[in-house]
Amino acid sequence: MSTEIQTIGVVGAGQMGNGIAHVSAIAGFDVVLTDISDAALEKARKTIDGNMARLLRKERITQEAADAAVARIKTSTDMAAHESADLVIEAATENVDLKKRIFGQLSEATSSDVLLVTNTSSISVTLIAACTDRPDKVMGMHFMNPVPVMKLVELIRGLATSDDTFARVDAAAQKMGKTTVEGRDMPGFIVNRVLMPYINEAAYALYEQIGTVEDIDTAMKLGTNVPMGPLTLADFIGLDTCLAIMEVLHDGMGGDSKYRPCPLLRKYVEAGWLGRKTGRGFYDYQG
Ligand code: CAA
Repeated sequence: MSTEIQTIGVVGAGQMGNGIAHVSAIAGFDVVLTDISDAALEKARKTIDGNMARLLRKERITQEAADAAVARIKTSTDMAAHESADLVIEAATENVDLKKRIFGQLSEATSSDVLLVTNTSSISVTLIAACTDRPDKVMGMHFMNPVPVMKLVELIRGLATSDDTFARVDAAAQKMGKTTVEGRDMPGFIVNRVLMPYINEAAYALYEQIGTVEDIDTAMKLGTNVPMGPLTLADFIGLDTCLAIMEVLHDGMGGDSKYRPCPLLRKYVEAGWLGRKTGRGFYDYQG
């Protein structure tokens, strides 16, 4: 019988990784958060502290529970720190070569019964699993941003994922208070197969001067009752991530023109206008 998951490793301390560490620690898991730089880990700690303070202000958590959750999070720049984990969640940049490399390293750093999952938003789980020594223990566990707020986790089986792996990862997601859905291992799974063409189409609407940035967002926000217009949401997700996902969809669907990334989106990424994180995207956040 498989052991219960107690320790969760998180690879990558960016906006997804620190959110995953936060919800895991609040759910009572011990957490090991790794990144290649101390600066990234320091920034993640500050974000987690800020998010705990927000929960305290709203009286959603007691001081003791917040302190205990923070104390459960250990950080390291060494991949070997995942040796003690039962489940490792990779939340690195959306780049296939990087993910292949990380999963190769995780195969070496952990024993063969440790579950290895990827938070990829679009890349083939089967391909990532094939870079490990245990494809039956690998699957997709796709969180939404901001992780502490969004209720969904999308679960994706690779070709070789076992039922036991799926059940244990599903149980961990539910312990974090998330609702799970299962999507097939096809480009973009469910969420990004639907969301990214919508965002890309909003970029085309801007490119073709159907409306201004503000009018496109107001139209969709008030016209379809979503919390953010598509261009605001693109800036929030990161335009580089949006472009990377559109490229996975375009390539993975045999070059079908319906997934062709908008040239304006590509231009913004070339300029380094990646959205909120760089202070400029479809909107200007400086000042
Ligand atoms: N971390 C933690 N909590 C946060 C947060 C963050 N980064 N940002 C906001 N919150 C909390 C706030 O504290 C507030 O909590 P309560 O409702 O409990 O009081 C709540 O979220 C709402 O926040 P605000 O009132 O400050 O702001 P808002 O009403 O504008 O909401 C939002 C912010 C939750 C981000 C909302 O705009 C929203 O839901 N936007 C859409 C987000 C979305 O679609 N995410 C999915 C992106 S796709 C994805 O992630 C997958 C992918 O692969 C690309």
